[in-house]
Amino acid sequence: MEKKLKLRNILDIRKSKFRTETYPTRTSEEQADVEDIVLRKYEDLHIKLKINPNLPELFKEQHTRFLVESMVYLPSAYESLDASRPWLCYWILHPLSLMGVRLEDTQKSHIAKFLGRCQCPEGGFGGGPGQFPHLAATYAAVNALVILGTEEAYKIIDRKKLRDFLFSVRQWDGSFAMHVGGEIDIRGAYCALSVASLTGILTPELCKDTAEWIVSCQTYEGGFSGCPGMEAHGGYAFCGLAALVILQKGHLVDQQALLRWLVQRQMKLEGGFQGRTNKLVDGCYSFWQGGAFPLLYSLLAKGYSIPQDHLFDERALQEYILICCQNPSGGLLDKPGKPRDIFHTCYTISGLSVAQHFLNERHILGPTRNSITCTHPLYNIRPDIVRKALLYYNNLGDPNKKDNNIGST
Ligand code: FPP
Ligand code: ZN
Repeated sequence: MEKKLKLRNILDIRKSKFRTETYPTRTSEEQADVEDIVLRKYEDLHIKLKINPNLPELFKEQHTRFLVESMVYLPSAYESLDASRPWLCYWILHPLSLMGVRLEDTQKSHIAKFLGRCQCPEGGFGGGPGQFPHLAATYAAVNALVILGTEEAYKIIDRKKLRDFLFSVRQWDGSFAMHVGGEIDIRGAYCALSVASLTGILTPELCKDTAEWIVSCQTYEGGFSGCPGMEAHGGYAFCGLAALVILQKGHLVDQQALLRWLVQRQMKLEGGFQGRTNKLVDGCYSFWQGGAFPLLYSLLAKGYSIPQDHLFDERALQEYILICCQNPSGGLLDKPGKPRDIFHTCYTISGLSVAQHFLNERHILGPTRNSITCTHPLYNIRPDIVRKALLYYNNLGDPNKKDNNIGST
């Protein structure tokens, strides 16, 4: 069902301003500054709407151009991401695919070959050619190859060695280190389970005790932290929840506590999400927090407590993304005043997709041409692309059995 959403009333937005309770702090001052900037954006838009009712618009062409150009040239600010090059591929390919942009076969082949050079002799992918294997780079590379979706791209993943790498970072208690000898946190569990399930190599031995370890990261607030005893954060909450859903162990979560924590992360005035309590709104949490809602909804529905109401305000999230996070020359951002970048372009567009498709309905803010494709909330890849990859890899069978090794390079 397609529903056209109207902008929130500007008076209601003004009323939702943060109250310092006569005790201003640095944090409350920063919050007030962001609200002032965001409120001005909303007020400007309400004025513009009187002349052009077809607002707010998603600048699809500009974002496409920004992303396509980023494939061949990135400014020097990206130098620090030299150990995250598979991420650059994923951050570019995924929003393009959500906006329905098709790449030339030669472009696909070029990217697949580059990712192939990031694959390590011991299995898994590094942040660039010749770098050590890392779970985050592996997750990004596998997602990027799956999005490319060609036979050439699929075949690059050496599933047997990938499994060896996953076992090399698996810990005795079911947790995962990001790399051999590296930090152990909930991202590791999610990245490992995500790539293993997508490529059909997830076994009970690989994920023994992992669900229990993840559950031990749920904090007193209801969200998940990076490792037990730390602060709940949206990035980690997504990883924890998605990993448990992959394991079909979502019933182990305190779902009501998680729901309460998640709904409180949507900012009253801004409409976007913050990553953790008392912090500022940021466009990337549109996915990290927003993407958790469809996952949690499916768990609640399985437990027969089907929510009677919307779990978050999809309209307010779309307002924040479309009115506050777009650079008119292309690319999206954290919050007004911040520079555009491909990470925020990927995750704001992903969050927009979640907001437009929540509960199998379409809730489009602005003109119908703002509509983008749905994303699979477990992998943050288009569902049709996920299905195709699952079919391909599951048909290959166990990579440790000789006859089934067709997928290995
Ligand atoms: C803190 O940001 C951010 C983190 C502590 C981690 C964020 C984690 C993710 C984004 C998930 C990663 C997922 C995968 C799949 C690898 P901050 O302190 O700069 O920002 P804040 O003020 O918004 O908390
Ligand atoms: Zn961000």
